[in-house]
Amino acid sequence: MKVLIVGSGGREHAIAASVAKSPKVDKIYCAPGNAGIGQLAECVPIGAMEFDKLAAFAKEAEIDFTIVGMDDPLVGGLVDVLEAQGMRVFGPRKNAAILEGSKAFSKDLMKKYNIPTAAYENFDNAEDAIQYLEEKASYPIVLKADGLALGKGVLICNTLEEAKEGVKEIMLDKHFGSAGNRMVIEEFMTGREVSVLSFVDGKHIRIMTSAQDHKRAKDGDQGLNTGGMGTFSPSPFYTEEVDAFCQKYIYQATVDAMAAEGRPFKGVIFFGLMLTPNGPRVLEYNARFGDPETQVVLPRMKNDIIEVMEACVDGNLDKIDLQFEDNAAVCVVLASDGYPVAYEKGFVIKGMERFEQEEGYYCFHAGTKLTEEGIVTNGGRVLGITAKGANLKEARANAYAATEWVSFDNKYMRHDIGKAIDEA
Ligand code: AMP
Ligand code: GLY
Repeated sequence: MKVLIVGSGGREHAIAASVAKSPKVDKIYCAPGNAGIGQLAECVPIGAMEFDKLAAFAKEAEIDFTIVGMDDPLVGGLVDVLEAQGMRVFGPRKNAAILEGSKAFSKDLMKKYNIPTAAYENFDNAEDAIQYLEEKASYPIVLKADGLALGKGVLICNTLEEAKEGVKEIMLDKHFGSAGNRMVIEEFMTGREVSVLSFVDGKHIRIMTSAQDHKRAKDGDQGLNTGGMGTFSPSPFYTEEVDAFCQKYIYQATVDAMAAEGRPFKGVIFFGLMLTPNGPRVLEYNARFGDPETQVVLPRMKNDIIEVMEACVDGNLDKIDLQFEDNAAVCVVLASDGYPVAYEKGFVIKGMERFEQEEGYYCFHAGTKLTEEGIVTNGGRVLGITAKGANLKEARANAYAATEWVSFDNKYMRHDIGKAIDEA
């Protein structure tokens, strides 16, 4: 098989590494890819939103199977464009990717089908939102831009004043662009967060092992929200009791709800869960693998990923027995100092060869580029240093040891990824 992967981050590198292990695969292409993906795949310089070019390339290169990793092309309908020319594609169509593309849609879906989530109201103009905040809200309260906003369209407001300012930012000043044409105002919840990824074939769902992300830039969950500074898997807080609750009220219920709405979902549903004192609640859905959750989940998966993904496309996921290794993995993101605000790029990265010799260690590339000087930093999140271990403590020690193998100017990381393990 010839496989095309669309995307360019650490998630796509982890997907490519899994795909490369499949005996079914002869050749991998990635658009646009990065320097690390380039060691496993042929990178083609086409952007993830250049649908016509991607479709033309897929036809010309006789691609047998395409995997769309990123949210923007999924929500924009890349799967539909490729399917229209007869291609086999892993990922939800546009009418199903709305599960991530519109928070108002996903909240209404959960309400209609009794899927546990925070209480909320949707608004399409600022006056009504402000009136609600003045008359009905209690604080803290959560404001969410409806559309995709690079994971940044969520504001937690402690007072009425802050919340009014938030409505202004989202709906009037359009800080998040057209994502703020509508917004959700929802109840503030407390508890631990867990990310659960799943494969879905339109009807059936298979849950992957759990993970936890660290979204803030600095140690102790301080600083600004980022794309994610590190992950661990499995989450010790995702107990059998939590799993049983989610199996009963959340996972299959979501798949059935989408099918009932005439929007059958095929691909990955990422359940962002909050384990509240009253039980698990859905914080958000994503219509794709998480980044950097994928970097700790896929290395632990025993199945041939292509077999699982083909089962999703063909609707026979019920025949698949999804299996994960009985161990743990931790991913520490090496970023450019200053991320997520302002940072320099173009510094040479040294020491990555060592990962090729060490079993159970992975250096997933996010923002890197191959130049004449070698591989250089090319983004805020640069590498996802991942290691497995017999348990979380060991995986964590291994991952932090491996962060020392790599050097580049302005290297920055959090030192407390997986610290929560100690409290479990
Ligand atoms: P989301 O993009 O919806 O996952 O929101 C981003 C982050 O904001 C989440 O990971 C939570 O940390 C936080 N958050 C979102 N919704 C709520 C809520 N209702 N209560 C408390 N925190 C929230
Ligand atoms: N790590 C969170 C996300 O992928 O949205």
